[in-house]
Amino acid sequence: MENIIEIKGLHFAYDADDEEKKSVEVLKGIDLDIKQGEFVAVLGHNGCGKSTLAKHLNAILLPTEGTVIVDGIDTKDEDKLFELRQRAGMVFQNPDNQIVSSVVEEDVAFALENLGVPYEEMRRRVDESLKAVGMYDYRLHSPSQLSGGQKQRVAIAGIIAMQPKCIILDEPTAMLDPQGRKEVLATIHRMNREQGITIVLITHYMDEAADCDRVVVMDKGQVVLDNVPEKVFSQVEKLKAIGLDVPQVTELVWELRKAGCDISPEIITEKDCVAAIEKLFGN
Ligand SMILES: Nc1ncnc2c1ncn2[C@@H]1O[C@H](COP(=O)(O)OP(=O)(O)O)[C@@H](O)[C@H]1O
Ligand SMILES: [Mg+2]
Repeated sequence: MENIIEIKGLHFAYDADDEEKKSVEVLKGIDLDIKQGEFVAVLGHNGCGKSTLAKHLNAILLPTEGTVIVDGIDTKDEDKLFELRQRAGMVFQNPDNQIVSSVVEEDVAFALENLGVPYEEMRRRVDESLKAVGMYDYRLHSPSQLSGGQKQRVAIAGIIAMQPKCIILDEPTAMLDPQGRKEVLATIHRMNREQGITIVLITHYMDEAADCDRVVVMDKGQVVLDNVPEKVFSQVEKLKAIGLDVPQVTELVWELRKAGCDISPEIITEKDCVAAIEKLFGN
């Protein structure tokens, strides 16, 4: 499979606001390739640079050193900025900051109008996108009447309408209630499965990461773990050392192993955990 994202030797420092202060390097040499169609979770303690990294993927920020290539476009190529942002859409934490119109369908159409997409085509894409996120019935509603989860789904519809190859979501469920979280996650997984859209999901929920193809863990501006969820979450001590929790199932398995039980450290689903414990007790 082809890489849709190629990050090489990425360093980044925010400019210091006053001359006395030295600018602090926030990303310290990141190498990361993501394949077309992958569903990747990015984890890391607050302040480790996740959002800064995400903003490099659609050229909101540009590397101080190194390169970021998205679908063959170097993010430093100003002539292709528009194209880049169509191919790699961003969804942020706060749904209220992403909604610009007073009618749901107008909001989804907003970026397409700016792109000059012809009316018929726009109508079709808006309807399809709203159906894809399960918000078609709300197309004539005001976004202000929607729940947080519904607003996030409208924001995702606005991105999907651009027919991106990749969607980067920066803690999209952090402000949602459990129901909203569930809706948004189901929507993202469906986009990945049915439309083959590459997903980069930044999250601080371990269970969200456990459901992905691959988990990238960052610490202090670097990638410290990068593997399938089973392998990443079996490194309980390392994760705890950098201030992260592990999924509940992993925690239980880890405690059982510490107590001397013969159980695989790579169990991350409740179902496998139950089966392993049953076996342990000879049932
Ligand atoms: N606009 C900014 N100007 C200066 N420093 C910033 C800015 N945004 C973030 N930082 C700093 O960069 C570091 C990484 O931040 P961020 O990428 O937001 O981390 P995360 O998303 O993992 O919590 C933090 O120390 C933060 O204080
Ligand atoms: Mg962040």
